[in-house]
Amino acid sequence: MAQTQVSDFQSIEVAANPDGFGAGITGLDISKPLQPETLQEVKEAWAAHGVIYFPDQPLTLDELEAFTLQFGEFGEDPFIKSMEGRPHVLELRREPDEKATNFGAGWHSDWSFQETPPAGTILHSEVTPPVGGDTLYADGRRAYDDLSDEMKARLEGLMAIHSAILPYGSKGLFAQETEKRTMKIISSTKAETKQLHPLVRTHPVTGRKALYVSPTYTIGIDGMDEAEAQKLLGELFAHMVQDKYVYRHKWQQNMLTLWDNRCCLHLADGGYDGHLRVMHRTTIAGNVPA
Ligand code: SIN
Repeated sequence: MAQTQVSDFQSIEVAANPDGFGAGITGLDISKPLQPETLQEVKEAWAAHGVIYFPDQPLTLDELEAFTLQFGEFGEDPFIKSMEGRPHVLELRREPDEKATNFGAGWHSDWSFQETPPAGTILHSEVTPPVGGDTLYADGRRAYDDLSDEMKARLEGLMAIHSAILPYGSKGLFAQETEKRTMKIISSTKAETKQLHPLVRTHPVTGRKALYVSPTYTIGIDGMDEAEAQKLLGELFAHMVQDKYVYRHKWQQNMLTLWDNRCCLHLADGGYDGHLRVMHRTTIAGNVPA
């Protein structure tokens, strides 16, 4: 986006997108522990803008872990083999000759099928392809705000059914895959359990409401007829990912992005066949959605 709004922080520089969703943060070195006032401002910027990114931040894996732990405990990352000796770091690696669909290619909020899904996810770019490989984010807050009063009333109190069955189930997408994939995905019947969460979730820091459903992990609505639930979910999915709610993040090497799973969806775009892409990912533990 061409224009940015520069917000009034004391210890960091925050350049936000004009619609307020997504912001670049400079003026700090995240490889070192942040001063309390700096950390507080980063947290405020994260809560306000949903997705924040820090360009030009080379990080070792130790530094990435230490940065993450300033925001809370690590989250639990199921169904994917973590890096050797790093149970809380995933390497999202796609080799130039891989034909399998890139990891994270469907809209989702990370691990929303868990009882306490991660509040945030951190992604640090190690190798970025010369074309493609963007990450797209959809703002569930503005998508909720713009719903009609009738729709808001209809959604009030509904509980959505989340499950990892579609991607990670024993007969899920990954289990049926025939193309080579570098990342080790562990498909399992454990992915077939269900978890209820409010369809509209209130952010514990900002108090803002956001739509909390995704086509990857939301498989129904509790107590609602299947056909009616799928119709409503389909309408909500289409509504949430309209261009006006989407921020397309373009990566540079050594950039760190921190997003808020409590109020936004994301999707990893492809378009870089023939090129290597390597990212390191951690999650920050969250609370039971309310
Ligand atoms: C993901 O965490 O879903 C993947 C994001 C990306 O690789 O851009």
